[in-house]
Amino acid sequence: MPSHDTPEQSLTPERTDPEVARLVLADANRTHGTTYHLAKPLSGGFQSGTWLLRNGRNDDAAAILKWSPHRTSAPLILRAGHAVERARAAGYPTPAWLATGVAELGLPYHIQQYVPGSSPRRLTVEVAERLIPVLEQQRGLDIDPQHCWSKYTRDQLAGGWDHARKAMAGSSAQGAGFVASIDALFTSFGQVELPTGDLVHGDFRLQNTLFRSERVVAVIDIEAFGSGTRAYDYATLLTVDDVDPAGWELTRLAGEQVAGPGVLAHCFALVALELADFVRQCVPGRLPVILGPLRDRAEALLR
Ligand SMILES: Nc1ncnc2c1ncn2[C@@H]1O[C@H](COP(=O)(O)OP(=O)(O)OP(=O)(O)O)[C@@H](O)[C@H]1O
Ligand SMILES: [Mg+2]
Repeated sequence: MPSHDTPEQSLTPERTDPEVARLVLADANRTHGTTYHLAKPLSGGFQSGTWLLRNGRNDDAAAILKWSPHRTSAPLILRAGHAVERARAAGYPTPAWLATGVAELGLPYHIQQYVPGSSPRRLTVEVAERLIPVLEQQRGLDIDPQHCWSKYTRDQLAGGWDHARKAMAGSSAQGAGFVASIDALFTSFGQVELPTGDLVHGDFRLQNTLFRSERVVAVIDIEAFGSGTRAYDYATLLTVDDVDPAGWELTRLAGEQVAGPGVLAHCFALVALELADFVRQCVPGRLPVILGPLRDRAEALLR
């Protein structure tokens, strides 16, 4: 597709650059008639610039600015804004989006409600018991059929993941063993039909949940929202670093009940492979630490 960016616009800005955040926020304030200012950067993922905002008129009121250095993700973010409204209307605990737009630089952004809370570090039984009802709320909440995680998973498992599989297998003996365990998991269930019709968060990790007084107050980082099977989000949760065996087992049982162990296994095969491949490229020092546990978990999900 031809790009309409001017040469200086086509440079990808650094997502941690405060100068870009200032420009995006100034644009947003002009567009929406708001008076936010940047309070502090919030570290998290690798995709967006995320900032705590304060309101010029009422310094106690906080909000969150997220902007993306990827100009092509503008349609996704604008669509996610509508999906958030529909999910919230159905009672899903994700913060309201207060404003959405594309800044002059071509950078998509949104401003969302700030929800005080903190993310659990470990998937314990107590944490799983709180998160499973949230995942079950996603059942039948088919908010954006245009963006289907089951179709994405099917396409990846049908060959889209081959490049990542080969790169992982070629990275080390441990990488090759990990890919063998993922392949064994994938093939042991034969033909598997991935259902659709649920809401899928797309990155349902502990860091993207906020708890307060041991209750889930928000599920955040939902820009990749779509339709598909919520088993995909269970599979993501089963890859988290820090788990205790009983918390993992409870999550696995609930995930298998969604549409059977084969559906959970296929989702896990893809999510685990993509996580490992991401770590291989972005945080290679961590790869040896995560491959062993991911392999053990793949084996635990075998038929
Ligand atoms: N609505 C919110 N209320 C309170 N805190 C929030 C909210 N949104 C984000 N945060 C805080 O900011 C951190 C980063 O936010 P978020 O997870 O949305 O983005 P990210 O992981 O940095 O982004 P990405 O994965 O898109 O690169 C969170 O871990 C959380 O501490
Ligand atoms: Mg996050």
